[in-house]
Formats: sequence, structure tokens, C-alpha cells
Amino acid sequence: MPALGLGVYLAEEGNECLQAINWALKDGYRLIDTAAFYENEQSVGQAVKESSIPREELFVTTKLWNSDHGYDKTLRAFDKSMAEAGLDYIDLYLVHYPVENLRLDTWRAMEQISKEERCRSIGVSNYLSWHLQELLDNCTVPPAVNQIELHPYCFGDERQKTVELCQEKEIIVQCYSPLVRARKFDHPELMALAKKYEKTGAQILVRWALQMGFSVIPKSVKQHRIQENGDVFDFEISGLDMEQLNGFNVDELVCWDPSKTP
Ligand SMILES: NC(=O)c1ccc[n+]([C@@H]2O[C@H](COP(=O)([O-])OP(=O)(O)OC[C@H]3O[C@@H](n4cnc5c(N)ncnc54)[C@H](OP(=O)(O)O)[C@@H]3O)[C@@H](O)[C@H]2O)c1
Repeated sequence: MPALGLGVYLAEEGNECLQAINWALKDGYRLIDTAAFYENEQSVGQAVKESSIPREELFVTTKLWNSDHGYDKTLRAFDKSMAEAGLDYIDLYLVHYPVENLRLDTWRAMEQISKEERCRSIGVSNYLSWHLQELLDNCTVPPAVNQIELHPYCFGDERQKTVELCQEKEIIVQCYSPLVRARKFDHPELMALAKKYEKTGAQILVRWALQMGFSVIPKSVKQHRIQENGDVFDFEISGLDMEQLNGFNVDELVCWDPSKTP
């Protein structure tokens, strides 16, 4: 799986989404992260089909929405996502959120989809350590990926415990909302680091994720920002500065709080 991808949450189906993906592919992105919930799987599929880049070099992730949990519903939801995207296969199918009571039934269907080789890998999203442990204790195919909200401002004890469990079980950690939805670009310490490396705050956050060994999927529909967020392979944050970034934690979430789900 490519380490860097384009997130397309809130990229409108049609021109906005198609254009964003085209720009991203030109800038070297090879992973596109969508979901049934984003209502733009069709545009993602279209952009992939129309691209001159061979399909096997591209990586498409989509996700099962919360109201589609349960064995039969999961199978049907996957068929629907496949039809929307119009692709021969999906690279990664994720359970979007650890819905109470149903998630183990859902996973049996995910395993079925994987065994039929209709997607190359299956994984989860928003799973904290205890959701993961429950799944690992009850599965035959373990998740390949756990996509969670992760950035220096959200890297407290529970996130670290989740990351450690993923690493121990060889589950790839993928950071969503890695730019904290652009809410921290006035944080003086972040901006001082950006100045030091002659980069932007966004580039520091994306680079932090990569240097932590995580996959990362910043979202933008603007050409210059897509280019900026992907231009992170020509510098390295020092160990000391990584430590400083790791000290930014305030347990701030911009998206869901899966700890509220028992
Ligand atoms: N699994 C899950 O539950 C889950 C939850 C949330 C997100 N995700 C995935 O992760 C992706 C990224 O997360 P996200 O969309 O929540 O947040 P994000 O990537 O942290 O931030 C996106 C926001 O920042 C703006 N932005 C992007 N680049 C910028 C830059 N260089 N400078 C200033 N502003 C910039 C974007 O606006 P413009 O578009 O106008 O540039 C957008 O408003 C999503 O698109 C989705 O694919 C998954």
C-alpha cells in the first residue's frame, strides 16, 4: 500500500472529485481513500479507469457504512460499492466504524469477501486497542490496516496503545484527518518548525506521520494544496523535533470518538 494517499471526504461527486484525483495522480499520489458514506465512489472509479496509470499501480480504498453492518448487509453493501466504483476489484475494504454488537458478524462477511478475492485486503477503521483485541480473538483473517484519527495533537495513551498493538500484530496504521482539518496552522510551535524546515505546517504534519511509520491520507480539492501536501519527500524532521511534535498531544479529536462505543 502506498504510504501517501488522497482523502476525498467532502469532495463532491463529479468534477470536484475527478479533478482532485487527476491532480493528485499527476503529483505522484497512488492511493485514493473514499467510502460509501462520502457518496463519491463513482467519481473515484471513473478517475481510476480514465487514468493512464496502470490499475495495478493504483490503490483504491472504500469503506462499509455503519447502517450496513451485519453479515448479509455487509455483502450487499460491498456489491453496491463495487457497482458504484465500476472497478474489477477494490484494493482495501474497511469497516468504517466499530458498530456495537454487529461488528463480529460484519467481519465474517469481510472475511468472505476477502476469500472470494473480490478485494485485495480487508481492514478496519476507528478501532481502538480493545476493539482490535476483540477482533483478533475472533477472526480467521486479521485486518491488514487500521485507519484512525492520528496527528501530534491526538497521540495520547489510548492512541499509542492502539498503535503499539497494530505494530505488534503487523497491522498498518493509517492516519486520517492528519492535517487536523487545518485547525492548527496558527499554532506557534508548529509554525516555528515549518519555518525552520522551510516547509508549511501541513507538510510538517504529513511528514510527521510518514516518519512515525504510518500511512497518511490528507484531503484537499485544491490543486496547490494537493501538490503541497504531497511534497514531503525532500526533507527529514530531526529526532529532537519529532520529540517536540510528539509533545503537542492534547487528545484533540476533529472526528469521531470511538472510545464512546463500548
Ligand atoms: N475512517 C474515518 O472515519 C475517516 C474520518 C475522517 C477522514 N477520513 C479520511 O481521511 C481523509 C483526510 O481527513 P479529513 O478530510 O478529515 O481532514 P484533513 O486531511 O486533516 O484536512 C482536510 C481539510 O484541510 C484543508 N486543507 C488541505 N490541505 C491544506 C493545506 N495544505 N493548507 C491549508 N488547508 C488545507 C482542506 O480544505 P480544501 O479541500 O479546501 O483544500 C480540508 O478542509 C478524509 O478525506 C477521508 O478520506 C476517514
